[in-house]
Amino acid sequence: MIAANWKLHKNINELNAYFDEFQKHITADVPAVFFTSPILLDRATQLVSSMNNISTGAQNISENTSGAFTGETSLDQVLSTGAQWALVGHSERRTLFGETDALVHKKVKLATEANLNVLLCVGESLAERESGQTEDVILRQLSLGLADLRPDNLALAYEPVWAIGTGKVATVTQASAAHKVLKAALVEMGLKDTPILYGGSVKSTNAKELLTDPYINGLLVGGASLDALEFSKIFNAARET
Ligand code: PGA
Repeated sequence: MIAANWKLHKNINELNAYFDEFQKHITADVPAVFFTSPILLDRATQLVSSMNNISTGAQNISENTSGAFTGETSLDQVLSTGAQWALVGHSERRTLFGETDALVHKKVKLATEANLNVLLCVGESLAERESGQTEDVILRQLSLGLADLRPDNLALAYEPVWAIGTGKVATVTQASAAHKVLKAALVEMGLKDTPILYGGSVKSTNAKELLTDPYINGLLVGGASLDALEFSKIFNAARET
């Protein structure tokens, strides 16, 4: 699975051209998900509906199902667009918007129980890596994020915070080691089929190498997903591997 995280980029007027271009270049038939702003979700979902294996998702959902929460996007609103996914616990949500593991857990529970697939993000900061805490941090984020939940509509993304938007991609050895630890934890939880994606400065030039690792089951791509041609190359790398 190859996922695009558009963050605060793109507007409604840019969608047609993007998906036309993307469709023109893709040769792979692996699942892809576009995580867009909630404003774009309805239109983006319509545009990908004719494309095999391509779906959309929200970058965040509210932990509240309805009520007076100005500026939030509800689960029901996301589902009503036909989007199939929600990104939960992205490091930017954790660090910039103060999302705790407990809040992440509420969102995972709400979405997965409503049949919205969740891509749960975990990852350590540079300071945590340098002080040898990588495993502890990602295992804590996984176990507190899921707690008692064992959803089969879940994917995990390992995104070392120091590699996001920095151009510093984790080496395949670093990524693989973290994925292996996460895989073992998932197996122990009875979730052996949950895919683990790598994210953090993925580009068409490093996608193939990352995807050849047996523990890396897909990619979550930010900056390099904004250009349709570049993202199609990353997507196509999934077929080559
Ligand atoms: P990046 O972002 O590919 O621009 O590093 C990845 C992400 O934030 O999911």
